[in-house]
Amino acid sequence: MTLSPIAPALLEWFNANKRILPFRQDPTPYHIWVSEIMLQQTRVSAAIPYYLRFIEELPDIPALAACDPQRLNKLWEGLGYYSRVRNMQKAAQQVCRDYGGQLPADLKALKSLPGIGDYTAGAVASIGFGIPAPAVDGNVLRVFSRLYNDDRDITLPSTKTAYTDWVMEHQPPDKPGPYNEALMELGALVCLPGGEPLCNRCPLSHLCRAKAAGTQLDLPVKPAPKAKKLQPITLALVKSEAGWLVRQRPRKGLLAGLWEPVLWEERLTKEEAKSRLEGFLAGVEAGEPLPAARHIFTHIQWEMEGWFFTAPALPLPEGYAWADRQALESLYPLPNAFKKYKPLMD
Ligand code: ADE
Repeated sequence: MTLSPIAPALLEWFNANKRILPFRQDPTPYHIWVSEIMLQQTRVSAAIPYYLRFIEELPDIPALAACDPQRLNKLWEGLGYYSRVRNMQKAAQQVCRDYGGQLPADLKALKSLPGIGDYTAGAVASIGFGIPAPAVDGNVLRVFSRLYNDDRDITLPSTKTAYTDWVMEHQPPDKPGPYNEALMELGALVCLPGGEPLCNRCPLSHLCRAKAAGTQLDLPVKPAPKAKKLQPITLALVKSEAGWLVRQRPRKGLLAGLWEPVLWEERLTKEEAKSRLEGFLAGVEAGEPLPAARHIFTHIQWEMEGWFFTAPALPLPEGYAWADRQALESLYPLPNAFKKYKPLMD
């Protein structure tokens, strides 16, 4: 079962081929932490502008700990999975209380912080501090399933444990960070998911058991994703002289505390939507239909339809606001689910 050493060829390839990325220029533990949290659900190219803006505005952990939560959501706007940034702030506050504002150079202490699991703790420890530790993400699972031609389900904890052991067998104790990053980079640039991997560019192809067996495209094995619950959403884009009608979502649950146009989690007719609006806003007039849009969350899929409305700029109930273009741009975090509608709110 043992595989010849992979680290020398892998590290040589990484040195020659790694992407120049902002968090690789100055890889402090804080920078690694922020980038790895962003990269958990976001492609590298999409994350870069967010990363630069975030680090510029919040250059250290005390700044993150003290940031206004609405501003923090605004810095995260469009990245999705907002609990990631809420947890980062909680962790930053804990780090200020318990560790003087610097991340602890200890794997176990890192894992005890909110939002920092095995992967993030391993990445920060190895890349940020040079501590030997595994950092096994989806890229690394794919690379190892192919290297070992292993067809166990990679979503099972037992498979992850087994692959983590393999990862550590090959990790050079003096280069844990470059080794872990090289594995991720190989997965991102060469050992690609969803289609032909670029085996002719792979520094490990001569060792790869899937390549020898011709099974690269069958690996890694994971169960088909579960069908998501379809949620009809009726949306109202209401405009007055004071701007567009937005409201804050509840403090708990999906998109907690973010802002949204008025919506109902059911399919309403134009007349029904109008009469719901009239419940708190007099003088509403219905207008043109909105384009339909869909947004896929982790467990649910929104199917959005609705209408434009106009209304007088009357005072609004608690939690509602009229937002002009400027306020929409700079103040209210409107999640990506409404991406299609944002340009219409002009
Ligand atoms: N994906 C997540 N973290 C990464 C990293 N440090 N390098 C390359 N790809 C990544």
